[in-house]
Amino acid sequence: MTQPNGASLSKGATAASAAGSAATGAAGGARTAAPVLEVEGLSAAYGPVRALDGVSLQAEAGRITAVLGANGAGKTTLLRTISGLVRPTAGRVVLGGEDVTRAQVEAMVTKGMSHVPEGRGVIAELTVDENLRVGSLFRGKVGKDEFDRVYDFFPRLVERRDNPAHTLSGGERQMLVIGRALLAQPRLLLLDEPSLGLAPRIVAQIFALLRNLVDSEGLSVLLVEQNARSALSVADVGVVLNLGRVVVTDEAHRLAGDEELRHAYLGF
Ligand SMILES: Nc1ncnc2c1ncn2[C@@H]1O[C@H](COP(=O)(O)OP(=O)(O)O)[C@@H](O)[C@H]1O
Ligand SMILES: [Mg+2]
Repeated sequence: MTQPNGASLSKGATAASAAGSAATGAAGGARTAAPVLEVEGLSAAYGPVRALDGVSLQAEAGRITAVLGANGAGKTTLLRTISGLVRPTAGRVVLGGEDVTRAQVEAMVTKGMSHVPEGRGVIAELTVDENLRVGSLFRGKVGKDEFDRVYDFFPRLVERRDNPAHTLSGGERQMLVIGRALLAQPRLLLLDEPSLGLAPRIVAQIFALLRNLVDSEGLSVLLVEQNARSALSVADVGVVLNLGRVVVTDEAHRLAGDEELRHAYLGF
């Protein structure tokens, strides 16, 4: 499984799908065969720097797919290329069966893709509630029910509703940016390093909220993380990236159990 050419990729992915369908019960029943996201042979470069080199992966509804790898592996570039911020030099991005490789960033949002970038950017002077309203702009009119739904998922944000965002803790900010992304009513959520700089207890709390969200809403999540140990504890499937290439794709618990792979690529 740890061969650098990812030879067991398709076998592993099939086994993961079957196991996942059985394990997730109710959510599994609604799952269709077609993945929400299909990335095929995606390559991207910054001038002479080749950041992605023929990356292929899938994300299914009701599942968390974790993309793991060291600093510089290409994780952020992968999310930026999927969401249309970086133009690929080769490959395809297919969302719900539609080829969106050349779509504009704004169009991606209306097609159901929401990207939470690295860094937890919020508008510091605006309150929590105002930040959420800003996040809903691309989807036109967003009803009270949809705001209530976000507050239901993140009760901590209810307490902080009228506080300016600069007074929030790192964990609260992370909840706010995820909540803001949810107001666009995505079917695919792209999350870039949500755990960065947070205490382990807060990371566990945020990942538990994420799991709950995915299980109850059938959302599809592509979670990019350097913190492989935490990410694999919440994810269904893991994809290991190294120097812009996929090393292996497998069920999360199998990757976590592979000591050789962990030491070579995952840092734990
Ligand atoms: N804006 C940029 N200009 C030039 N090179 C970049 C830029 N962003 C990232 N890179 C390079 O692309 C590679 C992948 O980076 P990145 O996608 O940020 O990786 P990760 O998120 O896994 O840390 C690295 O070699 C990095 O130095
Ligand atoms: Mg990054």
